[in-house]
Amino acid sequence: MKELVSKHILLGLTGGIACYKSAELCRLLIKSGATVQVVMTQATGQFITPVTMQALSHRKVYVSQWDAREPNNMAHINLSREADLCLIAPCSADFIAKLAHGQADDLLTLLCLARPLDKLPLLIAPAMNVEMWKHPATQRNVAQLARDGTYVLGVSCGEQACGETGDGRMLEPAQLLDEVIARFQPKSLAGQHVLITAGPTYEAIDPVRGVTNLSSGKMGFAIARAAREAGAAVTLVAGPVSLTTPYGVQRIDVRSAENMLEAVMQKASTASVLIATAAVADWRPMQASEQKIKKDGSGQVPMLTFVENPDILATLAQSARAQNGELFCVGFAAESHDLLAHAQAKRVRKGVPLLVGNIGPATFGQDDNALLLVDEVGHLELPRASKISLARLLIADIARRISSGAK
Ligand code: C5P
Repeated sequence: MKELVSKHILLGLTGGIACYKSAELCRLLIKSGATVQVVMTQATGQFITPVTMQALSHRKVYVSQWDAREPNNMAHINLSREADLCLIAPCSADFIAKLAHGQADDLLTLLCLARPLDKLPLLIAPAMNVEMWKHPATQRNVAQLARDGTYVLGVSCGEQACGETGDGRMLEPAQLLDEVIARFQPKSLAGQHVLITAGPTYEAIDPVRGVTNLSSGKMGFAIARAAREAGAAVTLVAGPVSLTTPYGVQRIDVRSAENMLEAVMQKASTASVLIATAAVADWRPMQASEQKIKKDGSGQVPMLTFVENPDILATLAQSARAQNGELFCVGFAAESHDLLAHAQAKRVRKGVPLLVGNIGPATFGQDDNALLLVDEVGHLELPRASKISLARLLIADIARRISSGAK
């Protein structure tokens, strides 16, 4: 999806091994529709060449304040006035220290200092050795930058170029792309804690078999990403799915409906919004066999007895916090026909203010979907679009309801 069309990104590279990831990041930004102007420090040239970054960004790289392309010799002003966002990736410990002190002795530090604070957001993706990252001086500088209004992105943990292991690796290009896209989304859920269930559940019959369904979890994961983009703290309780966790989202993996209910109950006391997208199995085998049930050759099939699973959404919708308006509950309905009638009936049955209907066979496993939002007074159709686009519209709708005091 071209989510960065008409956005102009200043991509600053400072000296570090992680520069190789910035080549891929530049590609991803361009593929998302952004225009990218790369600016390098002198030291960056030890790790990656301007030629590489020029080829990927389709623009000549700037290294010097005295670049002949700027007739007024004010590259720091010109570059920082035409951009929508500035991302320094990788951002070295030395560069962080310079930013924290407002030093401005090369083009990249100059343009960071010269940027209008209210117009050009600055994101930094730190990348350094674990001891350098942990050092009190670096942590002090990072805290100072956050106070100054810089968005300090996290670091990941793992093996480092120097052979040591720990925190300090730069985030992956796809995560950085998501962070850039997120910066342009309205922060309509700032201060909220959104709890989301997603995916199918798996109800064991014996150690090797179980009952599950075709839910892919994609809609719930898209909503988790959109909620986080909107500034919420997000907890995603996921059944067995093979999807990447959206960056910045806390994920709790569960298997059965009972596991899912337990995880949701643990988090519900601090949540302000519950969005139940999970396709929870209605029933589970009463007693999972401890050993694999074997065929005995007689042609007899085992008789399984099922019991009903707890209804997670209905349970939470009846809780005191939901009843007194502290927890806004949203349900989903996957139907095959008569969507509006079924969604309206389900909203009442579940006791939720908002129920989102979709056609099961047309959404399971797909990257796009169509939604029908049903509340007490009427309904709203969100026509077929990518799941992330629909998720953003749904989150904006929920934010409007919360801010208008809906229960
Ligand atoms: O009853 P049905 O499964 O159609 O209801 C769908 C809605 O209820 C979804 O929001 C789903 O996540 C939620 N649900 C639940 N626990 C169940 C069954 C459904 O939270 N046991």
